[in-house]
Amino acid sequence: PVIKPIVIAVDGPAASGKGTVSRRIAHFYDLEYLDTGRLYRGVGWLVLASGLDPRNPDEAASIAETFTLPLIDGADIRTPEVGRAASHVAAVPAVRAALLQFQRDFAFNPPAGRAGTVLDGRDIGTVICPDATVKLFIDASAEERAKRRWKELSLQDPSIALESVLDDIRRRDRRDASRAAAPMKAAQDAHLIDTTNLDIDGAFAAVRRVIDRATGGA
Ligand code: DC
Repeated sequence: PVIKPIVIAVDGPAASGKGTVSRRIAHFYDLEYLDTGRLYRGVGWLVLASGLDPRNPDEAASIAETFTLPLIDGADIRTPEVGRAASHVAAVPAVRAALLQFQRDFAFNPPAGRAGTVLDGRDIGTVICPDATVKLFIDASAEERAKRRWKELSLQDPSIALESVLDDIRRRDRRDASRAAAPMKAAQDAHLIDTTNLDIDGAFAAVRRVIDRATGGA
């Protein structure tokens, strides 16, 4: 008999805690994890590294069509500049189409010994895995998310201003949520988790309750 893998879809805006929560889920339930933001950041980084323009849909699409993760081995894709480039290329339908099959293959083919996968992104529950076992939408206020991102970024660049990080987050939210192609939004059957007033343990506890209920676990 073919046993369908467990797929946990985690969506939400930048710095909502979805990455940390997703890694915790994967570790705790022994599932394979994919941060799908890496794919869009990877394409954004490669576009910039090739001297192309992330706002040019044809140039972004041409990079996405030959994209593989090894191409960005060792690249620093966590910078604000790459985040912005990622948000631009992510609005291009041909870019999303080029990355779709990789994500589905990953979701439905966990390595031997693992019961399933966790994917985090913006459209996992709505587009990539509409039949996911559990869908989570992790959110927090823009101010709280800006504070978290600022703490991270100021370790590398102590001169970075909270206001500019907040501005960046707001712009990116707007771009990710308003684009026509697979906009960021909670699936209608997603469980909403607001982490504004939760630390990571609190967020994970809330997530565990949802997953355990949905999968009939502990
Ligand atoms: O989660 P992140 O900050 O690494 O994502 C970077 C950008 O990629 C974000 O602005 C939106 C885009 N993205 C997307 O459109 N769809 C995904 N599944 C993941 C990321």
